Amino acid sequence: MVSPDTGSALLARIEDVIAATPGRDAAVLAALRLVAERLPHYRWVGVYLLDVGMLNLGPYVGEPTEHTLIPVGQGVCGTAVALKQNQVVSDVRTLDNYLACSALTRSEIVVLIRDPATGTILGQIDADGHEVGAFDASDEAFLEQVAARFAPLYTHGR
Ligand code: SME
Repeated sequence: MVSPDTGSALLARIEDVIAATPGRDAAVLAALRLVAERLPHYRWVGVYLLDVGMLNLGPYVGEPTEHTLIPVGQGVCGTAVALKQNQVVSDVRTLDNYLACSALTRSEIVVLIRDPATGTILGQIDADGHEVGAFDASDEAFLEQVAARFAPLYTHGR
């Protein structure tokens, strides 16, 4: 859950840090650090970039993961791209098609990053939580706003 006040204050800080940080990956990492600091239910949060049928891990905050390359269609991340839909998973233990990053993860959210002009999927923001049902529609709405701030970095370069 992200309250409206927390979400809007955090978005303002994210905009500031993106503007103040040179370099695309450094700017995205700084923004993800703000998210992880302010929203403790985000135990892992990162960006995957889509490149010819494959998701490539970009900046992230949390434990290193072996899933640095995920084919479209695999796992929660690849499913989001295949279905062109955000994913909010209350309990990952109910899924057959799940790629575990941490044995402690119970819930996961994936929100797509799209080119604002064309709607083309550029990548995604992925987050893991340790509690069942950690993420809801307010997290999805918040991450959509974050994704909209990231999209220009991936469409125009820096
Ligand atoms: N759980 C994801 C893999 C990425 S990790 O959570 C960082 C999935 O099933 O696609």
